[in-house]
Amino acid sequence: MNLSKEPDTVADLLTALKEVLSPERIQHCIGVRDTSVELYRAWNGDSADIEILAQAALLHDVAKEMDGEAMRQAIAEGWIVFGNDLLETRGLVHAPLSAVYAERRFGLQDRDALFAIAYHPTGHPDFGDLGLAIFLADYLEPNRTFENHREVLLSLAYKDPVPAALEVARQKIDIMKLKNRSPHPVSIAFHDHLQQRLEPEKAAGKMPL
Ligand SMILES: [Fe+2]
Ligand SMILES: [Fe+2]
Repeated sequence: MNLSKEPDTVADLLTALKEVLSPERIQHCIGVRDTSVELYRAWNGDSADIEILAQAALLHDVAKEMDGEAMRQAIAEGWIVFGNDLLETRGLVHAPLSAVYAERRFGLQDRDALFAIAYHPTGHPDFGDLGLAIFLADYLEPNRTFENHREVLLSLAYKDPVPAALEVARQKIDIMKLKNRSPHPVSIAFHDHLQQRLEPEKAAGKMPL
């Protein structure tokens, strides 16, 4: 790997993002990049995956401010690979579209990274560490000053992603319920999957006989 290319790649990516995202959104994306990389390093040490994670984190909301017509065209032309089940939900549609643009416009090829982008708002039971890092960082990066117990959750996330992700998933489901909206089934499946990993006996006890 030619490490001397890395700063150019990131600089190029940030320049391209400035054409499609507001300055506030770019700050959020940089926060997600920094936090997700720190989390991933805390869990795995230095790894070749970190460069891919950094790119995916910067691109996770790339379609967030895209106009409706461009979104409809991307969907109509069948470009969506991951996250087809999120397309009916207005607040989630930017995630599978961001995965499409990350791949088609920015050349991100890694399947786990594209999957993590597609499901970053809901989480997904098939997430590995890369998906967990982006899911957690999206909610806990430093610009998210309004989230409940952000700093406590972030320090928990450094030690163990599963209980931290379970708490974030729970908060997101509670927020939807407070707004009288149904949480997406993938959000519930992710929450239940994390609970099962943490408390298999308790989760099994809840199953109907
Ligand atoms: Fe998002
Ligand atoms: Fe985001």
